[in-house]
Amino acid sequence: VQALVKAKLSQSPRLWLVTNGAQPVPSNNLVILGVAQSSLWAMGKVISLEHPELKCVRIDLDPQQTIKTQAEVLFQEIWSEDKEDQVAWRGDERYVARLVASRHQQGISQQQGDATTQKPLCFREDATYLITEGMGDLGLLVARWMVDKGAKHLVLLGSCSPDDANSQKITELEMAGASVVVEQADASDVESMTRVLYKIEQSNIPLAGVIHSAGMLSDGVLQNQSWSSFEQVMASKVKGAWHLHQLTQNQPLDFFVLFSSVASLLGSPGQGNHALANGFLDGLAHYRRGIGLPGLSIHWGSVAQVEEVAERGADVSLQKQGMGVISPTQVLESLELLMSGSDIEVGVVPIEWSAWQERVAQWPFLADWQETTQTTSEISKSEFLLKLNATAPNERRSLLVAHVRRKFALVLGIHHPESISLETGFFDLGMDSLTSVELRNKLQTSLDCSLPSSLAFDYPNIQSLTDYLEKTIILPSDDTGSESETPETILDKDSLELESSESLFSEINQLYENEIDMAVDEAIGQLDQLLE
Ligand SMILES: NC(=O)c1ccc[n+]([C@@H]2O[C@H](COP(=O)([O-])OP(=O)(O)OC[C@H]3O[C@@H](n4cnc5c(N)ncnc54)[C@H](OP(=O)(O)O)[C@@H]3O)[C@@H](O)[C@H]2O)c1
Repeated sequence: VQALVKAKLSQSPRLWLVTNGAQPVPSNNLVILGVAQSSLWAMGKVISLEHPELKCVRIDLDPQQTIKTQAEVLFQEIWSEDKEDQVAWRGDERYVARLVASRHQQGISQQQGDATTQKPLCFREDATYLITEGMGDLGLLVARWMVDKGAKHLVLLGSCSPDDANSQKITELEMAGASVVVEQADASDVESMTRVLYKIEQSNIPLAGVIHSAGMLSDGVLQNQSWSSFEQVMASKVKGAWHLHQLTQNQPLDFFVLFSSVASLLGSPGQGNHALANGFLDGLAHYRRGIGLPGLSIHWGSVAQVEEVAERGADVSLQKQGMGVISPTQVLESLELLMSGSDIEVGVVPIEWSAWQERVAQWPFLADWQETTQTTSEISKSEFLLKLNATAPNERRSLLVAHVRRKFALVLGIHHPESISLETGFFDLGMDSLTSVELRNKLQTSLDCSLPSSLAFDYPNIQSLTDYLEKTIILPSDDTGSESETPETILDKDSLELESSESLFSEINQLYENEIDMAVDEAIGQLDQLLE
């Protein structure tokens, strides 16, 4: 991806990510032999968001087929014209990925009220439960919940010793009747993990369940990412989960829960490594279930009051993406439901679908999810271009300036777009590489064109960006300027002006109140000058 971006090719090539037996499909053979490649699919979602121009497609080939057949299928897919971007082949069957509602879609509290037949979840007194990230916010939240539900022996694993606040929480667990062993160990280090599991075995209180929650973030858009940042993020999730799987696979566990993220379900710009690491957890849950072991991967959305998320402003960024925040109580309610059920991979994410119109319209993965949203978004997709084309040529630039300003304001969360000066640099106003990608993508969609990923760097303020867009988007299709004025063209111009005043009315309808006030003040000022 980095090489493709650097190459600055005039026409973007298409990107196919090809895996072999990495996706679970409803076929006879449920074991995903290519589990190690499953994470690539999640990163593909981030590639699609950060670089829509690459039209990234994921194809999973059937490992049971001969290489020749696999090559033929791949050839056929590459020349296929269809819009599917997540495809798996098993035998002669072609599968496409779709997000579907889980049985719990009605809302957790409501479901719990209705679920009279479901046995309440409880934990065994005579068993040990291991929580990696046991000293993190979510880990301690879950530990407390498990103790309240009967767990008596916990092993909390973290890479550092607990700080004062967490030591206090651990003391509270002990006062509630649990014996708590704190293990300082790196989940990605096989020797440390072997030692921890050996100690549990020696305690004669058998391990009955694992919650793998360790993780860390090192965000950045893919074009600026480094391999070392990928390694750091993958260490606890990928290596840690694999060690846990291997070291416990011969023990009769009641559950093996993996804390994944919405990043691997829906993609998350600027979190390619996080999505990739969590994609492995999702694949591992399917792999384990395929070989008859327990496995559940939960794509959590942003959890409220979890320090790292709050400090990094991820809540705000997720909300801008149309996602809400889950309360700690909802986390526990969801865990209760999911750990009592039989799902393998589930998302727990509050989503404001109206903010997702662009993606719902374009992404087949969401096609079965909200058909009504899709219909409206298809209609509105090129609304701005229609408006631009219907506007008199001499008024198009100001329309474009207002449009670029609004998109920039939206991406940066600026409430008064009109306050953004045309010459002030985007980066002086708080833009970073992630928001530069968002701005480029928003303009690409609304202008229905392909734009370079270095757009905000090459044209770093509203003025220069509008100049560029005007040259590339408006002028090539604008052949009216050179025509001499004949009665017919004057007539055409009049009708154009009529259309343009209609389009201006619809533009005015979309203006913020203070923008209207400013425009009215400006017009009155001009009239005053004329009268003088
Ligand atoms: N919080 C959210 O909003 C959210 C959303 C989606 C998914 N998740 C997932 O849920 C899990 C917990 O999230 P959180 O926000 O509670 O995380 P957190 O507070 O940042 O805690 C991360 C924990 O992971 C531990 N850890 C990191 N690398 C480790 C390693 N190699 N070995 C052992 N422990 C390691 C850290 O231990 P030390 O501090 O001792 O290093 C820390 O306790 C993560 O996997 C995260 O991806 C969280």
